[in-house]
Amino acid sequence: MKLLIKSGRVIDPANNIDSVLDVLIENGKVACLQKEITSKADKIIDASAKIVIPGIVDMHVHLREPGREDKETVASGTQAALKGGVTSLLAMPNTCPAIDSSENAELLKGIIKKSAQCNVLISAAITKSRLGKEITDIAGLKKSGAIAITDDGASVDDEKIFLKALQKAAKEKILVIAHCEDKALSKNGVVNLGFISTKLGLRGISRESEYLRVERDIGLAQKAKAAIHIAHVSCKESVEIIAKAKKKGITVTCETAPHYFTLSEEDVVGYDTNMKINPPLRAKEDLAAIREGLRSGIIDAIASDHAPHTENEKDIEFDRAEFGKIGLESGLAVCVQELIGKQILDWPELVRKISLNPAKILGVDKGQLSVGQDADIIIIDPAREFILTKETIVSKSKNSPFLGRKVKGVVEYTILSGKIVYEEVCK
Ligand code: DOR
Ligand code: ZN
Repeated sequence: MKLLIKSGRVIDPANNIDSVLDVLIENGKVACLQKEITSKADKIIDASAKIVIPGIVDMHVHLREPGREDKETVASGTQAALKGGVTSLLAMPNTCPAIDSSENAELLKGIIKKSAQCNVLISAAITKSRLGKEITDIAGLKKSGAIAITDDGASVDDEKIFLKALQKAAKEKILVIAHCEDKALSKNGVVNLGFISTKLGLRGISRESEYLRVERDIGLAQKAKAAIHIAHVSCKESVEIIAKAKKKGITVTCETAPHYFTLSEEDVVGYDTNMKINPPLRAKEDLAAIREGLRSGIIDAIASDHAPHTENEKDIEFDRAEFGKIGLESGLAVCVQELIGKQILDWPELVRKISLNPAKILGVDKGQLSVGQDADIIIIDPAREFILTKETIVSKSKNSPFLGRKVKGVVEYTILSGKIVYEEVCK
């Protein structure tokens, strides 16, 4: 099977490519990138005026299966991923049960094998049931396919336990993804602590609860010589602490999510529970710091933190609603609108943050278009605008904070191992 993509603007930062080229895909692999490919193909896609990039590697996705199939399943979440241009994703382990044993990892592997529509990578819990008390069998989990460990949704509060887990992770050469939140400081909070929380009469979550934990976790990782990745960075001080650590030569990477460079605590004023996220939407100055962190390169990656919840869990009082929002289908378009549109990043830099860097951080052979590589490719119309509505969302849950918002950049084709797995119908 030969697929030929003609005349697209091909952007592949791994190989320093940003030019109008043809791409030939043969037997699921990238076979050739060249100005003019005349070879015959089974299918030709005209990509003139379109952008051709490696598929997105989303390193923070809650697929909810096993256990909360009412929110999302591996099948529905990965279908949503394809629509959003995501060809590989890292599934978070805060499922029911949590992925905290080889048996549970094997169970998830079975589900993935049966129903995943894109590449699903597995992360496992750091502690049993993510309770922060008893360290999981990290070696066994790695053998069962986990490529990272995280208690995402919670931080490991006990410093000794976290240090021990980091030491074990270093020995196993497995990445630790840290959800940085000191619950003693953030407890019962539902929005960013500040003027808005006071005005709304809602309990606040301080920035200290995040950045003090970022500082602690980086320090412990350095002590253990472990690779650490800070998840969903939301505030200015966290960016500063990570910048300092990087300057000192400490191996730390981090990600942010589209809502942290697009929305702020002011968007919570209408009590829209889709704006209830942990960490919370912060102040305008944090939003500016996240943008600057992306521009300067301190923030390595952008991930969706796709966190689906049912209407029952969201359409209630703000205090009682679950934390989290979906993002697989809106991520790229929000990035195009906010980062490319406002000239914070150019296209090659954006591709680095959404495809190449996450693949590098996770140590997977994705996120680039080298010859011989799996042909995971997306074709985007960068100029087309659309409004995100509930009706168009493929994900089982509809809790997007971007509903009704005009965004830019439509995924027209998603190609996975050389096969067209998603094609926009109404072009
Ligand atoms: O808002 C969030 N939702 N933050 C987290 O850390 C967890 C996530 C979830 O699983 O719903
Ligand atoms: Zn998460």
